[in-house]
Amino acid sequence: MHIIAIVNQKGGCGKTTTAINLAASLGRKGHRTLLVDADPQGHASLGLGGRRQDEPGLYEIFALDFPLVDTIIPHIAQGLDIIPATISLAAVDYVLANMPQRERQLSNYLHSVASIYDYVIIDCPPSLGLLSINAIRAAQRVVVPVDMSLFAIDGIERLSETVDLVAKKYDLDIELNILPTLVDRRTRLGRKFLLGIWERYQDKVLPVMIHHTVRLKESVCAGQSIVDFAPNSPAAGDFNDLADELIMRNHTALDATQANISWLLSHIEPVESRPANVIPLHKERPETANSNLQKVVLSFQNHQQHNIQIAGEFNEWIADKDVRTITENNITHKVFYVEPGDYQYRLIVDGKWRNDPTNPRQALSALGIHNSLLHVTANDTFNQSIGNH
Ligand SMILES: Nc1ncnc2c1ncn2[C@@H]1O[C@H](COP(=O)(O)OP(=O)(O)O)[C@@H](O)[C@H]1O
Ligand SMILES: [Mg+2]
Repeated sequence: MHIIAIVNQKGGCGKTTTAINLAASLGRKGHRTLLVDADPQGHASLGLGGRRQDEPGLYEIFALDFPLVDTIIPHIAQGLDIIPATISLAAVDYVLANMPQRERQLSNYLHSVASIYDYVIIDCPPSLGLLSINAIRAAQRVVVPVDMSLFAIDGIERLSETVDLVAKKYDLDIELNILPTLVDRRTRLGRKFLLGIWERYQDKVLPVMIHHTVRLKESVCAGQSIVDFAPNSPAAGDFNDLADELIMRNHTALDATQANISWLLSHIEPVESRPANVIPLHKERPETANSNLQKVVLSFQNHQQHNIQIAGEFNEWIADKDVRTITENNITHKVFYVEPGDYQYRLIVDGKWRNDPTNPRQALSALGIHNSLLHVTANDTFNQSIGNH
C-alpha cells in the first residue's frame, strides 16, 4: 500500500481537485484506491457525490474509536472507495492534541487496510495542523499542488521544512513532489512562474502539470471525477499522466532528476500573442526598413568545452531560441538581435541555470529570483566579452 498525501497550507491551489482526480485515475487503471477526505470542508466527498450529512469519517475514527473499515464508502467510482468528511472533522485537531501518539493516529489506523488497497490518497485541509501532520506522517509521498501565483510559491519552503522534520523525527523516507496546477501556458506570466518553480525546486518538480480548464469545475458540479466525466478531455489526460508518473515512481523508485530541463522546455509552447516589446527574432539581421534590431554578441571563454545556452526575455526563455552559437579558439559567442531595451536572461551551462558571471548587472524577477540583465542601446553594436566558464 502506497500512501500519497496531497498537502499545501494554502487554500485554492488544487489539492482537492488533484486528490479526487488522481484517485479516480488510479482506480480506473486497475489499482485498488482509497481516497481519505481529511478536510472538514468535505470537498473531496462532495466532488465525488459522496457527501452525506451523517456518514462517519476521520472524526469518528479518532474521537469515537470507530473501526476505519466501517467508515469506508465502497465503489464511489471504478476501483475507488472513500472515507468521507463532514464538518465535525473541524474539531479533530483538539481531539488529536490530547491523544498519545497524536501525530501517528492516521498511520496506525490505515495499517488495518494495508492489504486491501494499492494506493491511499489523502486530501488535506488548508493548514499545517495535526490533521496534515498525521497525513504527512502516514505518507511515503507528499504531493504539493502549487498554483502559479506568488502566494503559493511563498509557502513551499515552510511545507518542505515541515515534511523534513516529520521524516527526521520518525526516521522515514518521505518524498516531496511539487505539482504545478492551474497552469496557463498561454500567458507570459504563467510560463514565467513555471520556469521559476522549476529553477528553484528542480528535481522536486514532477514532470507533469495540471492545466487550467473549466472542464474541472464542470465535473465537480456533476459529482464526478474528470476521468469519468470527460475521459477523453485534455484535463483527464493531465491526471492520467500524473497517475502514470506516480505509479512509475512507486515501482521503480525513479530518481526525480528525470524531470530535466529538456523536458520542461519541450513542454513550453510559444506564446500565442507576443507582447509588443518582444519582437520576433531572426538568425540573421533582417533587412526590413523599420527594424531597429541591434546585434548582440555575448562571448565566453570556454576552455572546458561546456555546453553554454542562453535564455531570456528576448527569446521567450527558451534555451538558445533564435540565438546563433559560434565557437572558436575556446571562446563561445552567442549572437542574436534585439530591439533596444532591458532584457532579463540566464545562462544554462551543462543543463544548469545560472546567472552570467561576466555580467554584474542583475534584476529581480517577479519570483524574487535575480536574473542577469542585458541593457541594449540604439544604434550600437553590443559586444560583451570575457568570462571564464
Ligand atoms: N486546473 C484547474 N482548472 C480550473 N479550475 C480549477 C483547477 N484546479 C482547481 N480548480 C478550481 O479552483 C478551486 C480550488 O480548487 P481546490 O482543488 O478545491 O483547491 P484546494 O483543495 O487546494 O482548496 C475550485 O473551485 C476548483 O474547481
Ligand atoms: Mg480542498
